[in-house]
Amino acid sequence: MLKTLGLEYHYQYGKKIVFPEIEVKKGQRLLISGFSGCGKTTLLSLIAGALKLQAGDIKFDGHEYSKMSSLFLDKFRADHIGYIFQILNLIPFLSVSENIALGIKFSKSRKSKVANLNQEIIRLINSLGLEKEVLNTPVNRLSVGQQQRVAVARALLGKPDLILADEPTSALDTGTTKKFLNEMMETFDSTKQAIIMVSHDASIAPYFDTVIDFNNHHA
Ligand SMILES: Nc1ncnc2c1ncn2[C@@H]1O[C@H](COP(=O)(O)OP(=O)(O)OP(=O)(O)O)[C@@H](O)[C@H]1O
Ligand SMILES: [Mg+2]
Repeated sequence: MLKTLGLEYHYQYGKKIVFPEIEVKKGQRLLISGFSGCGKTTLLSLIAGALKLQAGDIKFDGHEYSKMSSLFLDKFRADHIGYIFQILNLIPFLSVSENIALGIKFSKSRKSKVANLNQEIIRLINSLGLEKEVLNTPVNRLSVGQQQRVAVARALLGKPDLILADEPTSALDTGTTKKFLNEMMETFDSTKQAIIMVSHDASIAPYFDTVIDFNNHHA
């Protein structure tokens, strides 16, 4: 489904990052670990199309990013990718349910997979261990761990083929993390969604098919 080819990225004032090549098949679960600053978030941003490619390419369902117009890439991403940002990117003054609903705002195909929006939002927050009472609360009144789960629900809404998850459990306790991973992976068993997740928590490795440690990669 997705493959990176010779990806490199150079921020203006940093040193060049050379990424290990990764491949993700339909329904596959890939975990990425590596020291702080090694380029994990940068890789997810490239895959999400949030950063422009500089060198190398990404192939997704037969489409090469280098050959897509930015308009097409925006639409492609909205249809196929759910991104849980490390910095969450929630809209602070919007409520929990409004933030979650943004997940399908820009994608007809994801909208069409949600029969009843309110019901689906409630199902998602239940499965993530959030109380129904927070649905109409502005997200800036929630704890970081609660906000993290709102960001997860937004990314999962409308069942995109690929979930990019940047440390989605960093603010959760062990029990909540386990419940979240169990329920998410169980869903993915039937929907065949793939996930690329970044985490420093080695104890979650058993939930994944493949683990890549960026630290062991030398260009
Ligand atoms: N906007 C930016 N401008 C310049 N340099 C950046 C920018 N974002 C990241 N970098 C640099 O690029 C490198 C990779 O950053 P990145 O955020 O991808 O790391 P990471 O592996 O996600 O780290 P962490 O585990 O701390 O989240 C770092 O050296 C960082 O300083
Ligand atoms: Mg990061």
